[in-house]
Amino acid sequence: MKRYGIFYGTSTGTTGEVARKIAKALGVADADIHDVATTSPVEMGKYDVLILGSSTWGSGELQDDWYSFVDGAQSLDLSGKTIAIFGVGDETMSDTFCNAVGILYDKLKGTGARFVGEYPATVYHYDHSDATDGATMRGLVLDQVNHADLSDPRINAWADQVRREAEA
Ligand SMILES: Cc1cc2nc3c(=O)[nH]c(=O)nc-3n(C[C@H](O)[C@H](O)[C@H](O)COP(=O)(O)O)c2cc1C
Repeated sequence: MKRYGIFYGTSTGTTGEVARKIAKALGVADADIHDVATTSPVEMGKYDVLILGSSTWGSGELQDDWYSFVDGAQSLDLSGKTIAIFGVGDETMSDTFCNAVGILYDKLKGTGARFVGEYPATVYHYDHSDATDGATMRGLVLDQVNHADLSDPRINAWADQVRREAEA
């Protein structure tokens, strides 16, 4: 059984709430859910599967607490590890919807980790997102502002997919 750790950054609490829902769906213990504001990237070393979540702020930027954490993570050798990314945003920010998912992917793709958990882009309504370069998002994206009712089924389906892909 692989060890799963969840790392999230949040400014108003929403991504933290989503992180706990994902943890429940995956059976991840509270002790393995980490707020990047108060965690060292070295903690990633304890896990086989890293679930990374950020909201998007500003004009399509990472949540603030991620910047120093991801800088530290970039210098780690994450080969042999699996990463799945999730993002929380707002579809009405239509030119930068959930950009943080793409930013995390770009920053970590050189670490040797394998990425899983791509999600269909066609179920969202937006004009542009750095989270995708085609038909799939680099991870699960959720809009808790306008479509919170859609999130639980998406989380549950994505958690099953991530577990399947990570254990393969
Ligand atoms: C000033 C501001 C800028 C935002 N910029 C974006 C954005 O560019 N793209 C996006 O998808 N969501 C954007 N959002 C929406 C937030 O990502 C969303 O409210 C999210 O639920 C916040 O999550 P958090 O509390 O975990 O930080 C923005 C929200 C605010 C208030």
